[in-house]
Amino acid sequence: MNGRQPFPQLVVRPVEAGDAERVRRLFARLSPESVYRRFFTLFPTPPASILHHLVAVDHRDHEALAVLDGDEIVALASWDRPARGTADAEVAVLVEDAWQHHGLGRALVRMLAGRASREGIAVLNATILSDNYPARRLATTVAKPKNVVFDGPETSFIYSLAS
Ligand SMILES: CC(C)(COP(=O)(O)OP(=O)(O)OC[C@H]1O[C@@H](n2cnc3c(N)ncnc32)[C@H](O)[C@@H]1OP(=O)(O)O)[C@@H](O)C(=O)NCCC(=O)NCCS
Repeated sequence: MNGRQPFPQLVVRPVEAGDAERVRRLFARLSPESVYRRFFTLFPTPPASILHHLVAVDHRDHEALAVLDGDEIVALASWDRPARGTADAEVAVLVEDAWQHHGLGRALVRMLAGRASREGIAVLNATILSDNYPARRLATTVAKPKNVVFDGPETSFIYSLAS
């Protein structure tokens, strides 16, 4: 990601249409818990609609960054605007189990937020399962949320990107 981080072999780049097979291989390595925490549902194999959406980035209303270890995607972070050109977007992050707790989620979310701000996004919303403590830890330490909304099994962290 850069020379100062402990995994210099890792590369971060925007997701490309040709990444579908890499994303499929990433899913094959994920635990059911990680799938559930990211998608709020379980599936034995990722539905084609989800795979398609993850790689169908337009870099404006839907953007995704991937961390690659060699030819394998080991982490993904994305934003989705609810409608074209809105000033808010939903952010989500997924780190392969074997790479969790090594700082990738934090680094990726920071990079994504920087890009989002440059694309005119003023508010990022992260919806997390309320019992997902690693994600809550990331959400509360990566930046100071301007609001936190508790809604039963889900908690939303809302961040202002305006400086
Ligand atoms: C949540 C997730 C993205 C965190 O990514 P990560 O790369 O493991 O997190 P980082 O290493 O950058 O750590 C970020 C913070 O979370 C904490 N954390 C990460 N994993 C943790 C764990 N298993 N237990 C406790 N704390 C944990 C870290 O300690 C760090 O906080 P700190 O700096 O105060 O110590 C990752 O666990 C994941 O992909 N989970 C499955 C999908 C998911 O839950 N996505 C979130 C909803 S969209």
